[in-house]
Amino acid sequence: MPYLGVDYYPEHWPDEMIKEDIKGIKDLGANIVRMGEFAWHLMEPEEGMFDFSYFDSVISALKEQGIKIMFGTPTATFPAWLAHKYPSILSENEDGQVRVFGGRRQYCFNSELYRKYAAMITKRLTEHYADEPAIISWQIDNELGHEGSDQCYCEKCHEQFHRYLKNKYQSIDTLNETWGTIFWGQTYNNFNEIPVPKQTITTHNPSLKLDWARFRSNSINSFTHEMTGIVRKVKGEHQTVTTNVSGGFFDKSFDHEENVKKMDFVSYDNYPVWGGLEQPIEPASIAMTHDFNRGLLNKNYWIVEELMGAQGHDVIGYLPRPNQAKMWSYQAFAHGCSDMLYFRWRGMTKGAEQFCYGVVDHDNQYGRKYKEVQSLFEEIKENDHVLQSPIKADVAVLYDYDNIWSWKGQVQSKGFDFNEELLRLYRPFYKLNTPIDVIPTNRDLSNYRVVVVPVMQVVDRHLSQKLEQFAETGGTVLFSYRTGLKDRDNNLRLGEILPGPVREMVGARVEEIESLTGAHKLKLTGKGEFAHTYGEISVWRDLLVAEEADVLYEYSDNFYNQYAAVTQNNVGKGMVYYIGGGLNEEPLDRIAKNILSSHGITFIETPENVEVYERLVEKESYIFVMNHSGSLQLYDGEELEPYTGKIIKK
Ligand code: GAL
Repeated sequence: MPYLGVDYYPEHWPDEMIKEDIKGIKDLGANIVRMGEFAWHLMEPEEGMFDFSYFDSVISALKEQGIKIMFGTPTATFPAWLAHKYPSILSENEDGQVRVFGGRRQYCFNSELYRKYAAMITKRLTEHYADEPAIISWQIDNELGHEGSDQCYCEKCHEQFHRYLKNKYQSIDTLNETWGTIFWGQTYNNFNEIPVPKQTITTHNPSLKLDWARFRSNSINSFTHEMTGIVRKVKGEHQTVTTNVSGGFFDKSFDHEENVKKMDFVSYDNYPVWGGLEQPIEPASIAMTHDFNRGLLNKNYWIVEELMGAQGHDVIGYLPRPNQAKMWSYQAFAHGCSDMLYFRWRGMTKGAEQFCYGVVDHDNQYGRKYKEVQSLFEEIKENDHVLQSPIKADVAVLYDYDNIWSWKGQVQSKGFDFNEELLRLYRPFYKLNTPIDVIPTNRDLSNYRVVVVPVMQVVDRHLSQKLEQFAETGGTVLFSYRTGLKDRDNNLRLGEILPGPVREMVGARVEEIESLTGAHKLKLTGKGEFAHTYGEISVWRDLLVAEEADVLYEYSDNFYNQYAAVTQNNVGKGMVYYIGGGLNEEPLDRIAKNILSSHGITFIETPENVEVYERLVEKESYIFVMNHSGSLQLYDGEELEPYTGKIIKK
């Protein structure tokens, strides 16, 4: 039976309500709650006075109902006494302003003092519950690096940054040479002169910015590893360790794969709509977040915060329509979520999250949302074997954090958004309902047949050789624009024609480039098998000259209509595509279909907004069906009610 439950904050409610709450949770069909992750003060009200009695009594009440617990280490919200006593633990924003006590996550990852106190509460808490059979898992902190907490520009970080650079470059001359500090006369005589990238006039050196992002990543990840190490050392054998990944993972300055590598499994917080959004994010985008989380440890994962009600802090927006949140849960299970907890049991009447609605609202009635969750739990619990089954994808979408941070520091086009560019190439395969892995470039590719490499401007020889070999042996590689522009130091290469290290496999060269905006669209004309079809390009364009490759689309505007926009090249037994800009959906759909067909990869065509996902358990096929729309849809001759989510056994 999967773990199914809610995030429960018993400390928010009068003691008299606890028994009734637990009964309500039990009647929901839950067998687990997550708790404790913000309750440091309750466990250590004064320095060194540890007291876990409150949770002892809640745990014994939960045990009476047979409910298990995931317990959060509470380091995301430190107590006021700690900040008061040691203001140096507080992080600083880019303007040098100290983030005062009051919100959350406003600690500095490089504060030794913070680490000391965080390590202490983590250790004492884990020790206290190491033998508690009801606690089956530990969550480290909460949404590490979220809400801007990945950045801190304080003096401690500045010092550590110097140390990081010294360690990396050894000599200041090497750093000067690598960064090209000769430009604007920025040559450093010693490491202590190097700034952190706070506000300046115009912009900082690109190599400095990339090293800063790597340094931030190290800071967060070393904190995570330290806390994880403490829990691992002390915890009971029956207890696992995880941490909850928040959304927006490509916007953050830390390498998520590194962050979770010491965890037993990944947990994800799934909010398809949050804050003032008028509409949820599109289904493909939600799907991509699941595939990313599954890709982190290359196995099925948990969701420890699944949205049910409207959410936001001071501003809220869209309320999921009846059954829509339930359908999103089906989608999550389809993509590899094995166990799920809803955020949160009941909306809180006080504090910063008054408008984060839960399974139950402030009126404390067990209404529509309660029944929805109850029915989901009832339906899904029989399907543990399906939820546990591994997913095998033929298509992989690759990302690399150096590349992401390189783009973040220089977006080059007003229309550029990394997430959107990944989605642009993910979407056409998603629409064909074929499983996709979203994984870092360092993974073994030999089990894939198609590798999609969106906007990979940082490419080193190692990666280009790996991709070339993949194509040589029969794989298909799909690149998009700006590929191969930069080296690992975030610099351009002198004397090299783009797309640099992958030019030969692409079989085309980039002669000139133009940055377009998202709204500036240019017409493309199809050639060869794409003749009489048209495309549109925005955000960016590479003006390509085909060398070995065939041209699929070319530009049609004055002056540049001799250039190709999309090419295709035979390499060994495989094929390499190059998409020279932000291509629109139609031609991409065509290309994706050609690619899947050429490999004999099964795909399922469905009406827009109907997603299906096949899971195989031994030889048996289970089809997850999701209607993402508010209207009736047809799938396989059957009518789907608005926001249906279900499993059909074939
Ligand atoms: C998550 C967070 C929770 C809660 C929730 C509100 O990002 O982990 O603690 O704040 O959002 O929607």
